[in-house]
Formats: sequence, C-alpha cells, structure tokens
Amino acid sequence: MEKLKRSKIKTLLGCEPGAEVLAKGWVRTKRGNRQVKFIALNDGSTINNIQVVADTGLFDEELIKRITTGASIGVRGTLVASVGSGQAVEIQAKEIEIYGDCDPMRFPLQKKDTSLEYLRSVAHMRLRTNTFGAVLRIRHAMAFAIHQFFNDRGFVYLNTPLITESDAEGAGDMFQVTTMDLKNVPLDKKGNVDFSKDFFGKKTSLTVSGQLEGELGATAVGEIYTFGPTFRAENSNTPRHLAEFWMIEPEMAFYDIEDDMELAEAFVKYLVQYALDNCMDDLRFLNDKYDDGLIERMQGVLGIPFERVTYTQAVEILEKAVADGRKFEYPVHWGTDFQSEHERYLVEEYFGKPVILIDFPKDIKAFYMKQNEDGRTVRGMDVLFPKIGEIIGGSEREASLEKLEQRIDELGMSRKNLEWYIDTRRYGTVPHSGFGLGFERLLLFVTGMANIRDVIPFPRTPKNAEF
Ligand code: 4AD
Ligand code: MG
Repeated sequence: MEKLKRSKIKTLLGCEPGAEVLAKGWVRTKRGNRQVKFIALNDGSTINNIQVVADTGLFDEELIKRITTGASIGVRGTLVASVGSGQAVEIQAKEIEIYGDCDPMRFPLQKKDTSLEYLRSVAHMRLRTNTFGAVLRIRHAMAFAIHQFFNDRGFVYLNTPLITESDAEGAGDMFQVTTMDLKNVPLDKKGNVDFSKDFFGKKTSLTVSGQLEGELGATAVGEIYTFGPTFRAENSNTPRHLAEFWMIEPEMAFYDIEDDMELAEAFVKYLVQYALDNCMDDLRFLNDKYDDGLIERMQGVLGIPFERVTYTQAVEILEKAVADGRKFEYPVHWGTDFQSEHERYLVEEYFGKPVILIDFPKDIKAFYMKQNEDGRTVRGMDVLFPKIGEIIGGSEREASLEKLEQRIDELGMSRKNLEWYIDTRRYGTVPHSGFGLGFERLLLFVTGMANIRDVIPFPRTPKNAEF
C-alpha cells in the first residue's frame, strides 16, 4: 500500500466522507462497549476532536487497552459520515499504532481536579487541555494579526535590547543582570559595588520597556513597532500583573496625541475583529465554559467610538460617585494614580464602553511625556477596557530638548546615562508619539480568562518561575 500522508484533524473535519485518511494525535477519551470503541482524538489543530470508531474484532485486545486518555496514537481508516459524534465525519479505523502510552494512574490531567488553579501547578501538562489549546491558538492568532496590522501600514518591526542600563519608566522595578559572584562581590574604594568589574562594565538590568530605543527607530525610519518580552520586578500579586510579559510598542514620528489615540483605537479594534473572524471555534468554547459574556463583550467594543476623557474630568466623575455613596477600596483625588476599580467604574458603569484617559498629572507619569501648557499635566493616554482596566499606556513625547532635560533633572534622574536618548532631541527633533499594549492584557480581553497567569504558557510571578 502506498504511504498515506497524515492530515490535520482540522482539515479532516471539513472533508467530504469517502477518503482513506491518516490522523495522529492524543486520546482525549475512550468509551464504548465490547464490540466497538469510540475514541475522541485531538491533535491541537482545532478545539474539535475527531471521533475514531474501532471495531474491537479488528484489533488486539492489548492494543485497545493501551488506548487511554493522554496516549498518543496514529489511526488509518476511512472517513465516513457520522451520525452521533456531533461532527459531520468520523474515522472508521483499519489500523491503529500507539506512539506513546499514558499511565492513567499517574497522568496529571486524569485527576478529578481540573480547576485553573490546579492546572497552574501542572503548567507543563496543562497545554494539552482544551482550554489551553484554545488560549494558545488565540495567542498565536493575535501575534500574527499584530504583525499584519503594522506591516499593512508600513511600520518597521524593530528589535530592542532586553538587557539595558536604563529604567525607561523610572519606576525602579528592574531585575538586575550580573555575572558577579554574589558571595564575593567586588567593591570599590568607597565600599560600593564595583560594576566596572561586571560583565558589561556597568550595572545592567532586564528591560521594562523598549520605548526609548523605539524612539531612536521612529526618528530614523518614521514608524516602528516592537514586540517582545518585558520584565518588571513589581511585587504585585494581582490577576493582571506578570513579572515577565510581552509588550507591543509602536512609535511614530510626526504623530501628535490625537493621531496616537486614533491608531491605538484602530489597533485594538482590528485585533478584536481578527479574533472574531478567525478564532470562532475557540471563542465559542471559552464563552461556554468560562465567560458567557465574552463574545458579546468583544462585539461590543467594535461598533462604537471609545470615550475620550481627561484625567481631571475622570476625577470629578469619581468624586461625584463617592459623594453619591459609591464605595471604592482606595481613595481618589486629583493627583492620585487610578486603581483598576476606578478604571473599571468609568468603563463598565459610567460610560459603558472603552475609555481613553488623557492629560495626567505629570508626577504620576514617566519623564518623557510631553508637558502641557498648564505646567501640571502631561500628554499621556491610557486606554481602559471592560473587565481589564488599563490595556494600553502611551503618550506624545516631549520633543523639546530644554524641557526634557529640565524634567530629567527635576526627577533626579541621571542625564549621563540618557545622553544617547537625549540626542534624538538635539539632532532633528520631531513631534512624535507612541504607546504600549500589554499582550497578555489583550489576551485577557479576547479569551475571557480572569487571571493573567492563564493566558501565557509559562507565567512568571513573585515566587514562581517553575517550568
Ligand atoms: O503603561 P506602561 O508601563 O507603559 C510603558 O511601558 C510605555 N513605555 C509604553 C509606551 O508608551 N511605549 O505599560 C504598557 C502596558 C500597560 O498598559 C499594560 O497593558 C501592560 O503594558 N503592562 C503589564 N502587563 C502585564 N504585567 C505587568 N506587570 C504589566 N505592566 C504593564
Ligand atoms: Mg501605564
């Protein structure tokens, strides 16, 4: 017999009956009686299983026994019309090969406990569940759509360094990178750590943002975006924070804050639309299993323009709510950074749609944001989403050399380490803007998962770097 090429299950499920086929995958379940077994087979190409029908008379008893949940097998047979499987077609098996047995007594996914908490403790195996299959496929689709969106608009994908000397956001939440022997750290004459002896000859850390280098790219080729891992050592154990997350940071020369907001809104709408157009099977599964408002919420952000509100107006709205008896855990007044409870009140209760906040107090935002004429606010913008809160943070950048240097001094930052960045304002400075989208925050929105640990394959959070 000539060798049969393996087909993916996603393809097979869309085929007409009649053909001789070869499918390979992992057994989800096996049921049936003494005469016939029904095997649900999945290969990760789709959330849907293909049903394999095996007449026990055709096979070794021992082989049938070894077909257990989690085992990997290959099945050759005829694609036939199905009556009972919930799919149009199923495979009538002629030959079954076992690639790998899976001991039902020990397989971690065989346990009764299938809670997301339990699955986090077996994150090396949880990728094999329907839930994480769906999340991984949507994650991939979003990554692809991000490149598509920017490529279609002529943006250049810029790779910025992961190891850096600068704290772009000025928050001080950086992971240090060193090859020094921690038991024998070299000291200088004053007794301080002598970083000149370290690998890079200076103190270095993992990046909290690629933006500063992104600005170098944007002021050279006009429009760039980064898409890479980002590290923050903030000790926040929340469902929305990771110590290692992925960020997309577009940066555009000649964009003011209005252009920036327009792009951010078009960008997230494009991604949500892409997920609805391309991931419907997985979305339906997640919608039914975890969050029955998921698809509706996604459709809900598409048709309408996002609300644009200044920080000052938002404070007034929140203060009014408090005066009218609305309780918040954290107090709010002009000058405080909003907590996600405040953001979600604005989005979910007050406006009922995504909100773009602009013009923040300069003291709660990074040094590079363009200063407004009032002397106390900056041209920053945050995009707030239902159930998530902040999904995007960005701004128009301070283009004036004088104002930028003054702000760096005011904040007590070192100009010396930033000379390379400041050069963009010395030589042909231009108005420019950009923003950062937290990839996993986006994924929370388009999967309906409630915890950010469940939208990244291997989460890193305080006290957790396993797998
Ligand atoms: O608001 P952030 O800190 O902005 C920046 O880093 C700018 N340099 C972006 C820019 O203008 N180019 O972070 C941007 C986004 C947030 O809105 C949030 O979605 C996500 O990154 N984010 C996190 N996601 C997961 N875990 C964390 N610890 C995050 N911190 C920020
Ligand atoms: Mg932010």
